[in-house]
Amino acid sequence: MKVTVVGTGYVGLVSGACLAEMGNDVLCLDVDPQKIRILKDGGIPIHEPGLDKVVERNVAAGRLHFTTDVEEAVRFGTIQFIAVGTPPDEDGSADLKYVLAAARNIGRLMTDYKVVVDKSTVPVGTADKVRAAIAEELQARGVDVNFSVVSNPEFLKEGAAVEDFMKPDRIVVGADDDQAIYLMRALYAPFQRNHDKLVVMDVRSAELTKYAANAMLATRISFMNELALLAERLGADIELVRQGIGSDPRIGYHFLYAGCGYGGSCFPKDVKALIKTAADAGQGLKVLQAVEDANDTQKLVLVDKIVKRFGEDLSGMKFALWGLAFKPNTDDMREATSRVVVAELFKRGAVVAAYDPVAMDEAKRIFGDEVRLSYATNPMHAIEGADALVIVTEWKEFRSPDFERIQRVLKSPVIFDGRNLYDPKLPRSFGLEYLPIGRP
Ligand code: UDX
Repeated sequence: MKVTVVGTGYVGLVSGACLAEMGNDVLCLDVDPQKIRILKDGGIPIHEPGLDKVVERNVAAGRLHFTTDVEEAVRFGTIQFIAVGTPPDEDGSADLKYVLAAARNIGRLMTDYKVVVDKSTVPVGTADKVRAAIAEELQARGVDVNFSVVSNPEFLKEGAAVEDFMKPDRIVVGADDDQAIYLMRALYAPFQRNHDKLVVMDVRSAELTKYAANAMLATRISFMNELALLAERLGADIELVRQGIGSDPRIGYHFLYAGCGYGGSCFPKDVKALIKTAADAGQGLKVLQAVEDANDTQKLVLVDKIVKRFGEDLSGMKFALWGLAFKPNTDDMREATSRVVVAELFKRGAVVAAYDPVAMDEAKRIFGDEVRLSYATNPMHAIEGADALVIVTEWKEFRSPDFERIQRVLKSPVIFDGRNLYDPKLPRSFGLEYLPIGRP
């Protein structure tokens, strides 16, 4: 099938590359000539494991192309994915200007039937706006060409996006007409394995499904984080509680890890947007508001522990920080807890020596020439001359460190672990003070 993908960000590029991998002819459009140049030269503008190989293979096979030419892109695909950004505006609602601009371009230039697919995470009702924008452009041209609008939200996790796309749990397709459903079924046929993964529904339900999924996952995390704070007060161990409840199949083990708060490009934004949508619809979501508030508090949990241990005034102190990315296997620092921790430590007069396997360039972009933040070449380099160690991201390479050396090098041998990486007995057996989340 001929597919156009508008937007070569994280979602667009993964979708385009994976659809090409399944044998489709894919053209990816972006307004940013720099990005398109990188892609045409065989580079990848984002960090996503495995994506470079898929892109390389499909460019070589002549199935994956890149362009900045809007007209070429609209003409190309029968299926037109819109995968552009929807940044939150001040009140938390998703800003649709890029989505609607893409829709207008399609309406302005299309000459035959198109299925326009919303892939970006967009509020309920966006498909109607996309439909109206295209219809308006067609009307302005005085032409009558048929088209369908489909909602097909993505459920990709950063760091596992290729795998998630190639082996989806489910493929949600919201469509109101048979022709569009038929084409979407054909497009996703190669992804079907033992059972039908397509969940076909009306457009609005599909749009809400995406928010409901992320809001549910965020709820589990905030709930566990609050229970962890309670466990600390009661002298219980949240890790054992997690195992105890996760074994109930109605609860399950996933997304039950207490930590120093969730971040990333999806959960914080989608939780905010759903709260806003609900308020606008006259149906406040009390639970979800609490989820957001609890997460804001949780991002401060490490700093609270540091202050409790060393006092409010941290001037003259240096903290080693392991992890900058909002989670492992990505360089993404959007809404990352590390940013809150660094800012709060600065506020109290401390300096920070950070190490992250891939996110340090991103940190340099964010923090600029901030002199209070230095970058280490490896985890052990970060602790040199540091008073204590703070862990915010659960990178694999942090999981079995040389505790003996950490104990020897740190001035006050304390580890504040925001991701519960170790059996508490282990660092303590080396004479380290170990302060995890929700564990005695
Ligand atoms: C998420 C959804 O999982 C994905 O389906 C959706 O399409 C986009 O949003 P992503 O943001 O890439 O994906 O990361 P995810 O792995 O879900 O983690 C989100 C945040 O929650 C991270 O900060 C992570 O550290 C935190 N988290 C996750 C916890 O604190 N505890 C957990 O048990 C799981």
